[in-house]
Amino acid sequence: MTAESNAVPTAGGAAPIIELRALNRTYRTDEVEVRAVHDVTLTIERGEFVAIMGASGSGKSTLMNVLGCLDRPTSGDYRLAGRSVADLDRAQLALLRNRKIGFVFQSFNLLARTSALENVELPLLYSVPLVPRRERRARATRTLESVGLAARMHHVPSQLSGGQQQRVAIARALVTEPELLLADEPTGNLDSRTSIEIMGLLQAQNDAGLTVVMVTHELDIAAYCKRVVVMRDGAIIRDEANAEPRSAAAERATLDAAEQQARLA
Ligand SMILES: Nc1ncnc2c1ncn2[C@@H]1O[C@H](COP(=O)(O)OP(=O)(O)O)[C@@H](O)[C@H]1O
Ligand SMILES: [Mg+2]
Repeated sequence: MTAESNAVPTAGGAAPIIELRALNRTYRTDEVEVRAVHDVTLTIERGEFVAIMGASGSGKSTLMNVLGCLDRPTSGDYRLAGRSVADLDRAQLALLRNRKIGFVFQSFNLLARTSALENVELPLLYSVPLVPRRERRARATRTLESVGLAARMHHVPSQLSGGQQQRVAIARALVTEPELLLADEPTGNLDSRTSIEIMGLLQAQNDAGLTVVMVTHELDIAAYCKRVVVMRDGAIIRDEANAEPRSAAAERATLDAAEQQARLA
């Protein structure tokens, strides 16, 4: 079958973006069996902004890898935009990933000797149908502008601050116009001021309709999200709406005003 033939509603359809049913991911070595994700049932609708929390080793990254089609469940069902991913082969999974999902990691994962612009163009090289070179450049440029890096496009990662590198990584995740953004501890290597900037970017994307699922172990970062899911030993132990998420834009404005005051004083 083709990647398109699993005829369930997809883009714009009524299906939730993520549906997990009794999902397990077990790592087996010679000696031990680790149930990294254990019997997880979870639905995430389009437009949500979900924080996944939990202690180190609780299964957050394993779950994100399954959500991102980088890894397959050992058992259980995963539907992405209404389509079961279970019987897709590697090539079909890669295509689905490229079309639907953007990734952001704690360590940015940028190519070192490659400009911001080329880093952001990269996912478009693997897009089907092919994106012509000029359009790749135009889209990467536009996306970098949208994350506030118009003046840094030709810099390589070592010439950028951590926050700027994470912006490049976010632009790289957004350039394919994904339906789902997955971020694994995106502020883990950043100071608190820079973390607010990055959360502001993610909140703006979410306000524009993008579904965001973000791992964090920091309560004050999870507070920017609309829903908080807590894992322990591979299972979901709590799942709550956050009625009043923090606003990164408002906090940033307050910080800017305070700095301005301090400068004038
Ligand atoms: N590739 C792997 N092989 C074996 N065990 C793994 C592997 N990846 C993760 N684990 C184990 O699975 C559990 C969950 O890990 P992980 O998903 O990385 O947790 P978290 O991201 O919450 O820290 C841990 O016990 C970890 O040691
Ligand atoms: Mg992890």
